[in-house]
Amino acid sequence: MSAFTDGLMADRTVFVAGGTSGINLGIAKRFGELAARVAVLGRNPEKAKAAADSIGAGALGLSADVRDYAATREAMEQVVAELGPLDVVVSGAAGNFLAPAAQMSANAFRTVIDIDLNGTFNVFRGCYDLLRRPGASLIAITAGQAVNAIPLQAHACAAKAGINQLVRVLAMEWGPEVRVNGISPGPISGTEGMARLAPDHDAREAYYARIPMRRWGEIEEVAEAAVFLCSSSATYVSGTILDVDGGSQLGDASRGTAAKGLA
Ligand code: HXC
Ligand code: NAP
Repeated sequence: MSAFTDGLMADRTVFVAGGTSGINLGIAKRFGELAARVAVLGRNPEKAKAAADSIGAGALGLSADVRDYAATREAMEQVVAELGPLDVVVSGAAGNFLAPAAQMSANAFRTVIDIDLNGTFNVFRGCYDLLRRPGASLIAITAGQAVNAIPLQAHACAAKAGINQLVRVLAMEWGPEVRVNGISPGPISGTEGMARLAPDHDAREAYYARIPMRRWGEIEEVAEAAVFLCSSSATYVSGTILDVDGGSQLGDASRGTAAKGLA
């Protein structure tokens, strides 16, 4: 059950890059439920329209590739023209696949860096003069890959580490009027990301044992954290990465538990 009251985000305009599916769509929907004006962006126009329809009347579904600065900026200008200055901008577009570095082409590595890291720069840089000041709140969606070295994830680890540092630098530079934070979800049920990273039963079981909470998270749990970061309860929170991961950042919870009879 949510701690947030109906109408909390009334009169706010929220733009979610990569908000046409999964976790980011869940965030967009939650802001919509709390009465915000919402726009989502992805590459596929039909998917973007369906996402907007699922958020509710008045939501905008826009199509652009975050690797393209001009197209991304144009989409955000359209949002401002139709919905007003941006109060909340979420950068969550990402690409990922499992691949050993030794078998990864330069283009494969560059593709993930381009979508995740350069895309986040494009979204945040592009929205800079479109934000309502003071009070605007930016959120980058990062991942545990930013701080944990994970085999087959050279591209995602490098990209997400870059995002974490970008968050910190922008929080410093834009601090007086704009707060900049990140959310680092753990493994989240029903998402494309986990379908790619844990495609079979055994892989999923191995994940559960390692997480202190012994379960995957729900999209709604990430969305609640996003609302908190943009709410009047977080007005002195900037430059932080909020882990919404059941304690995963603490390390492997299965270590030693079998030997001690705690498993
Ligand atoms: C090796 C691969 C590959 C794979 C693609 N490539 N898939 N290499 N193994 N499985 C290579 C291609 O061969 C190509 O290199 C290069 O990557 C670019 O591929 P394209 O298909 O041309 O790229 P594009 O059409 O731009 O698509 C981007 C994509 C795609 C990332 C490859 O999968 C995508 O659109 N993904 C978006 C959805 C997604 O990934 N969602 C999950 C996010 S979750 P060459 O050399 O052949 O040209 C996430 C989880 C984080 O981030 C943490 C969870 C805990
Ligand atoms: P998802 O459903 O695949 O969502 C990705 C979104 O980004 C889609 O809306 C996609 O739409 C859009 N997108 C992808 N490439 C784009 C591009 N180049 N330009 C514009 N939009 C683009 O993924 P998810 O699993 O929910 O993950 C969402 C976010 O959470 C990502 O940042 C991911 O790294 C992070 N995360 C996920 C997990 C997890 O458990 N799933 C864990 C930790 C962190 P189009 O395909 O139409 O472009």
